[in-house]
Amino acid sequence: MKYARIIGTGGYLPPNIFTNADWEERVATTDEWIVERTGIKSRHIAGVDETAASMGTIAAQKALESANVAAKDIELILVATGTPDKIFPATACLIQKNLKIPTCIAFDIQAACSGFVYALSIAEQYIKSGTVSKALIVCSELMSRLIDWSDRSTCVLFGDGAGAVILEASSAPGILATGLYADGNYDKLLYVDNQQLRENKNYISKTSHQYLENLHPFIQMQGQRVFKLAVAKLGDLIKDIQLKHKITLEEIDWLIPHQANMRIIQATADKLHLPMEKVICTVETHSNTSSASIPLALDIAVRDGRIKKGQTVLFEAIGGGLTWGFALAKL
Ligand code: UT7
Repeated sequence: MKYARIIGTGGYLPPNIFTNADWEERVATTDEWIVERTGIKSRHIAGVDETAASMGTIAAQKALESANVAAKDIELILVATGTPDKIFPATACLIQKNLKIPTCIAFDIQAACSGFVYALSIAEQYIKSGTVSKALIVCSELMSRLIDWSDRSTCVLFGDGAGAVILEASSAPGILATGLYADGNYDKLLYVDNQQLRENKNYISKTSHQYLENLHPFIQMQGQRVFKLAVAKLGDLIKDIQLKHKITLEEIDWLIPHQANMRIIQATADKLHLPMEKVICTVETHSNTSSASIPLALDIAVRDGRIKKGQTVLFEAIGGGLTWGFALAKL
């Protein structure tokens, strides 16, 4: 049987660090509130010249180096981002150009914070079907450009960064199972409207204006409802993993959850009966980097030697859509 194996990881965090004290100077918040409710102490904020493609290119370069794979051998580029440089071409094509990757399949996916698990599952299908043998996944997010810097209920939660992995066809086990889910009925709980749609409004009829005037260009979130759904849906995932995929919890060496809130991470670990020592947490210093949060955490834990070759890692995420899902992989 052909598997898709993760053979390299890379990450990029902008050098500029923004602490909770920096937010205290801008909005009516406190370090105490942010730490108690979320576990976040700081986040990285991209410079004015940085984009999803520029950050993603650095993360991808590092992943290629760690996998010892040449750019010319990549046959599929998948980029998950909610902050693409352009509406089109896809950020995947821009990263392809930057890395001088020859003609291949390249496209972006939009699954908000679940982007990494969605991308893993898509890349796995391409590899298992024999269509490609090496794939690059990049998750790159400029959340600082999507927040309203005066809205304390959302601005303190997010940060910027990029993570990447290289996948390869292998006869040895790699990705063992994936499960993807979405329910668009929850679209109003967490969203950003497309501001671009406003631009040509003068040419459109008066009735359309009302819709266009109400567009929200910044993150809108019903925090408590998303929190409760996150705990419930991630709990359901665990049952799914055990029943449908017949995977026992003892087989899981590490959990790498989406890094949105320490309380959600703790609740998920409890449901898995995993001690927190088996959970990779970066939310304290990265905050929520949407789809980039899991591959960034993976890269850090692989490079610092916590996650070792042959170990089994469970990735799980939930985000706007709502979308949610998991991937279980032997590294
Ligand atoms: O990545 C995609 C998935 N996203 C998530 O998983 C996020 C899920 N949601 C959450 O993590 C939490 O709901 C938040 C961290 C966003 C909020 O925590 P909460 O415990 O649900 O707080 P809350 O929204 O119920 O707000 C409690 C109070 C409110 O004041 P009142 O009405 O009780 O007087 C807020 O106005 O905290 C207030 N508040 C703040 N106070 C200080 C909201 N934001 C802040 C702030 N600083 N930054």
